[in-house]
Amino acid sequence: MTTGHAMHETDLFTRPAATVEAALAAAVDGSGLPDHLLEATRWGVLGGGKRLRPALVLLSCEAVDGRTDDAVQAAVALELIHCFSLVHDDLPALDNDELRRGQPTLHVKSGEAMAILAGDLMLSMAFQQLLESPLDASITCSLVSELAGGTTSMVVGQVYDTLGGLPEQLDPREQLQLVHRNKTGALLRAACRMGGYCGRADEQSLQSLTSYGEAVGLMFQVVDDLLDVTQTAEHIGKATGKDQDMGKLTFPGLLGVEASRQVVEELEERALDALKPLGTNADPLRDLGRFMAIRTK
Ligand code: IPE
Ligand code: IPE
Ligand code: MG
Ligand code: MG
Ligand code: MG
Repeated sequence: MTTGHAMHETDLFTRPAATVEAALAAAVDGSGLPDHLLEATRWGVLGGGKRLRPALVLLSCEAVDGRTDDAVQAAVALELIHCFSLVHDDLPALDNDELRRGQPTLHVKSGEAMAILAGDLMLSMAFQQLLESPLDASITCSLVSELAGGTTSMVVGQVYDTLGGLPEQLDPREQLQLVHRNKTGALLRAACRMGGYCGRADEQSLQSLTSYGEAVGLMFQVVDDLLDVTQTAEHIGKATGKDQDMGKLTFPGLLGVEASRQVVEELEERALDALKPLGTNADPLRDLGRFMAIRTK
């Protein structure tokens, strides 16, 4: 990666990440929780995350000429669902991981019962956030529907990933795509569509954002699978080499590293193609898509 590109990345993330970090802290701290639950929720939500999903929400809103301020609650809601999914994903009954975002996982820090319950809380807080958005009721309904659908798909994907039960008529590559589109792709797709709703996108622009979200959504998990086999725990802040140990269905596991990198390139191209009808307002979203293809953590 060139220095120029790295500087560009910083520009790309500083603004949406800072906006979202502050709004997330305000949401958690303002929720009137008892101390131990507040402490656990802060641990699971604040600090360390890349905040890529909320960045997708904000930049998708801007890509259709919407106001950033109109998309903050949706961005916070999406990130809360993501944090909930990570806290539960790390539990002993699922991936049994002890390191997340460079820190002990919530169940290691606060015990399993608290990790389950704090995760449950993030789920309800997310929908509460949507009700606090400044947008009119019909847009809020679309946001609720979109977030609920994405969350349901995430759970379906986690079930496939952890307990199997995939349709047997599908070939292995189709099965793998079904897992990844559900467990990870659906929430990224929802992020882009929610940004579109916040920006009052017309049907055609919403379709562009949807196609972009589907491409980067699948790409995100292919990259995550690659990082599990190519990076160190110190660099990515979570254990590596675990997917194979746990017998997970992954892109590098099925296709190998080189072919998986090829898939990433194809999906990046598909994502950028999808944004063609949106003009220069979509440039930050284009840059984010490019970054997501080459990220190393
Ligand atoms: C990790 O997501 C979980 C996946 C769906 C692959 P991120 O890599 O976005 O995790 P954080 O939020 O930056 O920690
Ligand atoms: C996570 O997939 C998908 C979720 C819904 C959280 P992984 O299990 O691969 O995510 P990491 O690698 O633990 O972050
Ligand atoms: Mg998992
Ligand atoms: Mg995991
Ligand atoms: Mg992973």
